[in-house]
Amino acid sequence: MKTNVSQIAMERRRFGPTHREVPVIGQGTWYIDESDRASAIRTLRRGLDLGMTHVDTAELYGDGAAEEIVGEAIAGRRDEVFLVSKVLPEHASRRGTVVACEGSLARLRTDRLVCYLLHWRGRFPLEGTITAFEQLKNDGKILSWGVSNFDVSDLEEVRTIAGERRIACNQVLYHLKERAIEHAVIPWCEKHSVAVVAYSPFGHGDFPGPRTAGGRVIEQIAAAHGATARQIALRFLLRWPSMFTIPKASTPEHAAENAGAGSLQLTRDEIAEIDAAFPLGPRPRSLPML
Ligand SMILES: NC(=O)c1ccc[n+]([C@@H]2O[C@H](COP(=O)([O-])OP(=O)(O)OC[C@H]3O[C@@H](n4cnc5c(N)ncnc54)[C@H](OP(=O)(O)O)[C@@H]3O)[C@@H](O)[C@H]2O)c1
Repeated sequence: MKTNVSQIAMERRRFGPTHREVPVIGQGTWYIDESDRASAIRTLRRGLDLGMTHVDTAELYGDGAAEEIVGEAIAGRRDEVFLVSKVLPEHASRRGTVVACEGSLARLRTDRLVCYLLHWRGRFPLEGTITAFEQLKNDGKILSWGVSNFDVSDLEEVRTIAGERRIACNQVLYHLKERAIEHAVIPWCEKHSVAVVAYSPFGHGDFPGPRTAGGRVIEQIAAAHGATARQIALRFLLRWPSMFTIPKASTPEHAAENAGAGSLQLTRDEIAEIDAAFPLGPRPRSLPML
């Protein structure tokens, strides 16, 4: 299970209201511009080979540099990729959203995104952003759109403006030590057929170490599966039917390890053990963001 490529069978699920089957494990790209470029490209391509075809990027990352690297990595393989990028809130006016999307398309060397997200809610009214998303969709520049870092009240507003089954996904912070979205965001998304995409699934560099109490629990479960603690952590997040996740890796070996979670299954007892080791905690006043 660890990194044995021949054994990897990536589970795919219907992505929210779209008719697309998307791998449960995808690839994040925040800070990939700070790695060696050739290695970043090799890593993304290795991830694609292993079925991690959901590639998440944003105009924010490296001020466009991450999108350029992704563009190079997916050259010639565009049709395999569930390509997602995001507009910054300060660009998300009706006109600004269209201009930002065209910039992302140019850097990604493609003529369309599969999904385009509002990175987080900013000062521009949601109506303008949504009108722009619909225009981009009509023009064939994006195939679907969604949001990121949206709490239930924001999601309700989008649903009121756009209607039911228009939001493809809500991309939100979710890892073992940060389970706030379980209180209300995930239930809302499951009720309204919105895919939930867990970002920073390893806590963005704060993964529980093997000498911590929680770390020992996941290490033990991992040993029973011949898997790794990170694979177990990803799989715990994926117990929700609406869930996808997008870990970021800088090496082909890390990418292969992450892909190895794509076919793993945890028992009810194992899920209960992890649940107890990393308690949910109270519902926060506002949605946590990284
Ligand atoms: N919408 C939003 O507001 C938002 C916010 C944050 C992130 N995101 C997206 O979510 C993606 C993932 O989140 P993230 O980048 O914050 O953090 P993350 O995926 O939780 O963690 C990345 C860290 O985990 C390490 N790692 C990955 N695979 C590993 C493995 N198999 N073994 C050991 N270490 C491993 C990476 O090291 P190496 O680099 O050395 O492999 C890196 O230090 C981002 O890249 C971005 O696309 C979205």
